[in-house]
Amino acid sequence: MTHHLFETYRPHAGQQALHNAAARFTAVCAGVRSGKTFGTAREFLRRVYADRFWKPGPLHYWAVAPTYDLTNVQHDALVEVLSPHWRALVRQNLKSERRLELTGGIVIAFKSAHDPKTLVGVGLDGLWMDEAARVDPEAWRGQLRMRLSDRLGWALFSTTPQARNWFYEEIWRRADEADPERFDPQFASVHFATTANTALPHLAAEVDQARRDLPERYFAREYLASFDAFIGQVYEEFDPATHVVVDADLPAAFKEVRVGVDWGYRNPGAMIVVGRDGDDVWWVVEEIVRAKVAVDSSHGNKTWVDYAKELHRKYPSARFLCDPAMPGHLRSFRAVGIPAQAADNRVAAGIQLVATLMHPSPETGPRLRVHRRCTHLLAEIPNYRWQEDDIAAEEPVKQDDHALDALRYALLTKPHQPGYW
Ligand SMILES: Nc1ncnc2c1ncn2[C@@H]1O[C@H](COP(=O)(O)OP(=O)(O)O)[C@@H](O)[C@H]1O
Ligand SMILES: [Mg+2]
Repeated sequence: MTHHLFETYRPHAGQQALHNAAARFTAVCAGVRSGKTFGTAREFLRRVYADRFWKPGPLHYWAVAPTYDLTNVQHDALVEVLSPHWRALVRQNLKSERRLELTGGIVIAFKSAHDPKTLVGVGLDGLWMDEAARVDPEAWRGQLRMRLSDRLGWALFSTTPQARNWFYEEIWRRADEADPERFDPQFASVHFATTANTALPHLAAEVDQARRDLPERYFAREYLASFDAFIGQVYEEFDPATHVVVDADLPAAFKEVRVGVDWGYRNPGAMIVVGRDGDDVWWVVEEIVRAKVAVDSSHGNKTWVDYAKELHRKYPSARFLCDPAMPGHLRSFRAVGIPAQAADNRVAAGIQLVATLMHPSPETGPRLRVHRRCTHLLAEIPNYRWQEDDIAAEEPVKQDDHALDALRYALLTKPHQPGYW
């Protein structure tokens, strides 16, 4: 029966290596759009039907991902494989219950790892974890691994790498025969770059574009699936000769102005004003970085509300994107009519965006430029470094980063439309 399922499937060399890997725990670490999900969905079903051949009784599997949206991608991928033989193979597709029941007593349940409560359950015959490196390590250590032990279940992991985190240490290294300390013959690994996917004709051009647009280390991680840890300076591409500008360089007008706000009292607080021009270049035009400034009540001293009101008068269309950790401060801003909202404060995503904007692409040059009057920001940039005691975290050292945090909030957050307020 199962060979019909794959009649039209032409795996590329990387996917073929996955189908050849016979290890109980098999990991695919590969570039974005390289065909990880596509190939692993097929390997998953191949293994399910192989189990059906020799294991008696009902069979139970889980497909796990960091979010429900990503489990829907797994669900769709499996449905696509099954669809030509739907009536023979599928008993019920309960999408809203995140459950797919196949004929022959096979149940596949879809589970998001962001909600560990939902991972409590039965013994599993097999597991597919997609975007595994972004799954919480406790999901594997605390729950999933255990579920596989009763019924001698197998697991497939498909992912792009995410620094040297649990996936690297606990899965990837176990498959590495050259690492005698960790090697475990139950593990196997397959690695391929985005360009391995020869099925998509336009992909090669997209990869070339990304090679130009992205900082090298992000390109290496996402397209080459490189595990290299991030070390040293966070914003390697920063070069005063191309990124620092003076009044004469500024565009005549901005299409959009944003103010990033990082709260602080003993540590300095920071407001960073950035404008976007008609070519989507961001210009940091102004900064306010001060310690010992209160938010709204300060016995006659100037407050953050006062500074914000001044900026609001000067840049009437500006949205204020604020560190979400202090909702009371946000309310103080809104109470006096300042259009403030909680910022997107994801660290790795924000840093990747700032680095990508700093990266000078051949067509546009850098898409982030800083006025030389922003002396605090300019002092923080070259000193901002990755943590080296815990390189798995992909986090910078939290020190002298207030202007940088405010900049990150301003650039990463998608402001609501003014009408929202
Ligand atoms: N062997 C293949 N045959 C045909 N199309 C493929 C094959 N492998 C991948 N693709 C195509 O490439 C696209 C990206 O693959 P996908 O598995 O979603 O990438 P990712 O590695 O990001 O999970 C798929 O939607 C599919 O169209
Ligand atoms: Mg995928």
